[in-house]
Amino acid sequence: MDEFNYSALHLHTILAEGCFGSSVGLYQYYGQYVVIKSIPYDSPDYAYTAVLKEHMILSRMNHPRIIQYLGYFQAASSWNIVLEFAERGNLATFLERRSAERAFLNQHTVMAKIGDIADGLIYLHQRNVIHRDLKPANVLICVDNRLKLADFGISKIMHDDDFNRTIVGTPLYMAPEVASGKDYDYKSDVWALGIIFYELCMLEHPFVKSVGAGRKQKFRVPQIDWKRCGYSPTVQMLCDMTIQKDLTKRWKLEDILKEYHVLQLMNRPTS
Ligand SMILES: Nc1ncnc2c1ncn2[C@@H]1O[C@H](COP(=O)(O)OP(=O)(O)O)[C@@H](O)[C@H]1O
Ligand SMILES: [Mg+2]
Repeated sequence: MDEFNYSALHLHTILAEGCFGSSVGLYQYYGQYVVIKSIPYDSPDYAYTAVLKEHMILSRMNHPRIIQYLGYFQAASSWNIVLEFAERGNLATFLERRSAERAFLNQHTVMAKIGDIADGLIYLHQRNVIHRDLKPANVLICVDNRLKLADFGISKIMHDDDFNRTIVGTPLYMAPEVASGKDYDYKSDVWALGIIFYELCMLEHPFVKSVGAGRKQKFRVPQIDWKRCGYSPTVQMLCDMTIQKDLTKRWKLEDILKEYHVLQLMNRPTS
């Protein structure tokens, strides 16, 4: 799709609208659906930079668990990225619906979803990219129910001696070191992965109930009610490895994905 003929695009639906006239739209293009993420030229610099950065990162990625980049084009008034269409929307909407119905997921489904996200994330980390805004709204669901990571606007390409103090990300999923403006690295995505894992199991955010509680309260790793949902008690391990304020206690993703019990939970070969 290198030579993108945007006059052949036909708008089907607007999927999401951002600030400053930016939008995500579903289009038909020669009989196939594509998604266009569009930003007007006259948007504020930071919004424009985010889309250009997303383009730079996505155009270098090629993995089944990362939303596929198909091309870009410059229209009269906007800059546009063309993406594959994830037919089943985002994981936030999925979790909201499941939560409203109190329809808990079985362990197999939880582990398949977390395995998909972890596979996308490790691919990014191995290419020195930190997502920095991992949250259910940025995880998309395809027609086969497999997940793909999306929204790389605030991702960061790390260089060996990089430390990053910019405060970015979404508060509910933001690792404590990011929220407090300290240095952070790949493990900040691991925190967000842990929060999503907890939400997949419990259908609620682990810290919703503690909002407003005393700030000085001692941090405790969120506990999964594994009995209620018929999960194995070892699912708690995943929270213990990921939702840790202390970075020395929080595991690296590559080590998590080698750990025997995690592999067993994911139904992956253990040797
Ligand atoms: N390729 C896609 N397929 C299906 N839905 C998408 C796609 N890209 C984005 N969306 C929808 O649009 C929403 C916003 O897209 P996103 O890339 O996260 O942009 P933003 O920077 O505005 O958050 C997503 O949460 C999802 O619901
Ligand atoms: Mg988003």
